[in-house]
Amino acid sequence: MRTFSLASIALAATMALLLPIDSEAAMSKKQQKLYPPKDQLADVNSPQVKEWLKLINWSKVPKLAKTKAEIPNCPECPATKDIPKDACWWTCNGCVAKDDIEVCPQEKAWGLTYDDGPSEDTPRLLKKLKQANVTSTFFVVGSRVLEYPETLHQQIKDGHHIGLHTWSHAGMTSLTNEQIVAEIKWAEKIVFDVTGLKTKYWRPPYGDVDNRVREIARQLGYITVIWTKEWDSNDWQIPDKTITNKEVFRNFKWALSTVPKLKGGVITLEHDLFTQTVNVAGPLLDMGMKKGLEPMDIARCLSDPHPYQNSLVAKKPAPPPAKKPAPPPAKKPVPPAPAKPVEAPPKADSAPKEPKAKEPSEAADISKQSQRPSGAAQVAWSAGMALAFVAASAFFTL
Ligand SMILES: *[C@@H]1O[C@H](CO)[C@@H](O)[C@H](O)[C@H]1NC(C)=O
Ligand SMILES: *[C@@H]1O[C@H](CO)[C@@H](O)[C@H](O)[C@H]1NC(C)=O
Ligand SMILES: [Zn+2]
Repeated sequence: MRTFSLASIALAATMALLLPIDSEAAMSKKQQKLYPPKDQLADVNSPQVKEWLKLINWSKVPKLAKTKAEIPNCPECPATKDIPKDACWWTCNGCVAKDDIEVCPQEKAWGLTYDDGPSEDTPRLLKKLKQANVTSTFFVVGSRVLEYPETLHQQIKDGHHIGLHTWSHAGMTSLTNEQIVAEIKWAEKIVFDVTGLKTKYWRPPYGDVDNRVREIARQLGYITVIWTKEWDSNDWQIPDKTITNKEVFRNFKWALSTVPKLKGGVITLEHDLFTQTVNVAGPLLDMGMKKGLEPMDIARCLSDPHPYQNSLVAKKPAPPPAKKPAPPPAKKPVPPAPAKPVEAPPKADSAPKEPKAKEPSEAADISKQSQRPSGAAQVAWSAGMALAFVAASAFFTL
């Protein structure tokens, strides 16, 4: 009987520890209310945002005017002469700041990135990536994480790298300083609540970034990741029917033909928001690998052993990205651009406006993690569960 009891205690304790992680629980309305409404700019007067605003030293943030846009769309590009030089606006004149990430430094290294998810099609992509033994960076939208927290868990579990793609996917240069902070921090918060990870890399929606936006992101601890000129897959146009799968493949084939001439690696832009874009992701991956590119997440392509702001220890060993290091890459291979970004049309990045609005009920999954009470509470809860089991098994053995 004693042995039985001890076994019961062990079992009970184990179950109690596991339960909060394994129980399927839907996100309650109340929990959803902890975040801003989906796909909308957050209230910048909320106590939470006010707290975040204190993180910024505003005297360092360039006083640039907001650009004009129909939020959340990508801003319209004015005539080049009307763009302040000191704005260094990537979307509209291709200007790159010295700490922007546009390429992977190593030859043949392929920074694989998927934006705008997670979506109901993401698991299919994860399966493909697993088969290929490849990790990528997912630049997630906070509003989508609210809908698919489980998928975010799976992504981490599979070794992928998570970056931010804001809360509501608005063009950042068209927002106020306060809205920019809220867009980044709310997305950061939901990713943290779900995974415990504080993101460190972000991609501005549409690549829409200028020196005002950059400085705010920088002060929040972020590294800005764009993509390599000519390596936007344009997959986002397939659902719009402005491009066919065939054209996407043909364009990518052309880009691949330039690889032998490249000084370093590349970063591609793809999306995991739509069925159609996930449909082309597999073939594109195969094409690139066949040409000798080595796909990898952005942290690995940059040999960053700390892919998150709160990762004190490297999550996984980051093997050297490519066999042959390129000659110490000029940090920015791409010179200040011509008037028009050849590869980055203003709408280069799909806006998650109409996509797949979910019924509230369907949207309600939440990860156990996000539900999980914080440290002490969880321990107390687990202990309580263990006691309950012990009591129950004691009763049984009597
Ligand atoms: C804010 O930035 C300015 C300009 O760089 C600097 O002089 C000042 O000390 C900073 N303030 C704080 C509180 O860090
Ligand atoms: C998978 O990729 C990792 C890292 O690139 C490598 O170390 C490992 O050997 C690969 N495994 C297989 C089965 O190919
Ligand atoms: Zn996007």
